[in-house]
Amino acid sequence: MNKRTVFPAFLHGGDYNPDQWLNYPEILKKDVELMKEAHVNCVSLGIFAWAKLEPSEGNYQLDWMAEIIDRLYENGIYTILATPSGAKPMWMSEKYPEIRRVSGATGHRELSGNRHNHCYTSPVYREKVRQINTVLAERFSRHPGVILWHLSNEYGGECHCELCQQAFRDWLREKYGTIEALNHAWWADFWSHTYSDFSQITSPMVGGEHSIHGLTLDWKRFVTHQTVDFMRAEIDAVRAVNPDLPVTTNMMGWYDGLNYYKFGPYVDIVSWDNYPRWHTANNVDIAADAAAAHDIMRSVKRAPWLLMESTPSMTNWQPTSTLKRPGMHMTSSLQAVAHGSDSVQYFQWRKGRGSFEKFHGAVVDHYGGSDTRVFRDVAAVGSRLEEMKPLLETEVRPQVAVVYDVENRWALEDSAGPRRAGIGYTDDVHAWHRAFWEQGIPVDMIDMECDDLSRYKVIAAPMLYMYRAGFEKKLREFVENGGILVGTYNTGIVNDTDLCYLGGWPGETMDLFGLWNEEIDSLPEGATNAMVCRGEGHRRYTVRDLCAIVHAKGAEVLAEYDDDFYKGTPALTVNRYGQGKAYYVAARAEADFLRDFCTKLADDAGVVRALNTALPYGVVPMMRTDETGKAVVFVQNFTGETKPLMLNETCTVFETGEKTDALTLAPYETVILLK
Ligand code: GLA
Ligand code: ZN
Repeated sequence: MNKRTVFPAFLHGGDYNPDQWLNYPEILKKDVELMKEAHVNCVSLGIFAWAKLEPSEGNYQLDWMAEIIDRLYENGIYTILATPSGAKPMWMSEKYPEIRRVSGATGHRELSGNRHNHCYTSPVYREKVRQINTVLAERFSRHPGVILWHLSNEYGGECHCELCQQAFRDWLREKYGTIEALNHAWWADFWSHTYSDFSQITSPMVGGEHSIHGLTLDWKRFVTHQTVDFMRAEIDAVRAVNPDLPVTTNMMGWYDGLNYYKFGPYVDIVSWDNYPRWHTANNVDIAADAAAAHDIMRSVKRAPWLLMESTPSMTNWQPTSTLKRPGMHMTSSLQAVAHGSDSVQYFQWRKGRGSFEKFHGAVVDHYGGSDTRVFRDVAAVGSRLEEMKPLLETEVRPQVAVVYDVENRWALEDSAGPRRAGIGYTDDVHAWHRAFWEQGIPVDMIDMECDDLSRYKVIAAPMLYMYRAGFEKKLREFVENGGILVGTYNTGIVNDTDLCYLGGWPGETMDLFGLWNEEIDSLPEGATNAMVCRGEGHRRYTVRDLCAIVHAKGAEVLAEYDDDFYKGTPALTVNRYGQGKAYYVAARAEADFLRDFCTKLADDAGVVRALNTALPYGVVPMMRTDETGKAVVFVQNFTGETKPLMLNETCTVFETGEKTDALTLAPYETVILLK
């Protein structure tokens, strides 16, 4: 099922761990009362409950869970049911040591304990997971209260055990066929690392090989492959019982251990866990970062998604457990909705009494009552979401995309030059995203396997160092058909196994950009150059870090460097190609450049903004539209100050029905407008 998954309402609730409270029947009863009071309509159940579901091998104890699911359902609360593979029971990891991971940092097998640390190759673990998933599916997957599978929890990490090493070698054999092909693809003759047999290959781990970039890249790809394969085995188990119950797994935004885009085809709906560090730095910067993460996650399927976790107050694992200031809970929750989420879910419903997360924020504190600030904030979000039910028909439909490719990220961050001081890929992706976000323009974050570029008017592709999946051809077609493309320095350097292109950069797109990039200068920390625009105004922007030295070969030069031996050479170019245009930004420019440039791009391309008005700093409108294009706009104030906003058009305030052409936003306030 790869279509939009529609729930009966915006989901509101969170991780519920009654397995920790089975000795407290009064509290379990009270939970349901409190949930109703908090306008909770959905919980995620049993994520770490395996030891209670199967206290000894094959001894399944599901009655307690049945009682909970029934009670919730009778009270109008849905269940997202977890498969419990995220944490393995003690008896299991002691009896079957092979299910424990071998750490890449130490080379040793871990002891029993912790979580998210199973071997994803181990046939024993896969079988144990298949069994428990089957048992859960048989008992609960047709329960009318159960609406979705929550597969495992935050898949992540690597295992370097012998089973995984062998699976890696098999994967490589399948990919390359012969050892000669692998040696060439990895440039393994370097330092005499030529392999004569697949059995000589080991994962990049402590004491092992780290100098073959193709190997490191393929290992990361293998980790994703094996994790997806593990997840698919989980899906097979539950679908064998009931093919109709949709599945999700909760992801982690910018997390770089996995290529989430590879999960897209197999989950029915994407969900993710969002923990911005509100109030620990400039909240507008934090909001920009969260916005980009929401957009990455939505773009995995380019469809509505679920906020699976967020904190109602503070976390416990960040350096400071800073409380959300009044207003921030509403605004951070609705930010997810503005970016396409059909839920606001929390970690966690109730604070546990002991162990690592006893001080993590929760809807219900150890205190136990509903007369708390956090509880009231949560209830307010729940009741607002109820009123917003008609808006479920809308979703985010961007006309702009920024390319964020995780495999490109892996290759770039391992590239050993031109900037070992930090290549800044995610900073660039973030900066380009932000330049559109700040203007109230929705953005998709697409990867290179994206097959449908035609829906976009503008694509910004910072540092496409590695071309893969034929992306250079897709870009060419996009521009030919009238699209506006922006490329930058450090683009088109290597192919998909990290071998540099012969014949000049940017590889196969030299004619698309109409230039040749001969060298890249990496400036020392703090050093700058500048780009000066030709034409009116001669605006000057500071550039730093990376300066590509290029020769225009057909492209028009829009700006040139102002300093150093490459003064006067192109710093910004545009090439007309087919019906479209391909811009090349040769150096990493200051935020003002990105802001001015992206405004011009959006204007030229006729991109629709959420609001057509001047926005005060920190006020960002985002929009969801229905199938006819009718927009609902979430105007959010991410600052602690009151902000006036002229709308330039008359809008209707969603909740009151009042017509208005101006707003005054309180600190951290969100106003929902219908256009
Ligand atoms: C993650 C996990 C949760 C919990 C939270 C705490 O997102 O999925 O189980 O540990 O972090 O912030
Ligand atoms: Zn393993």
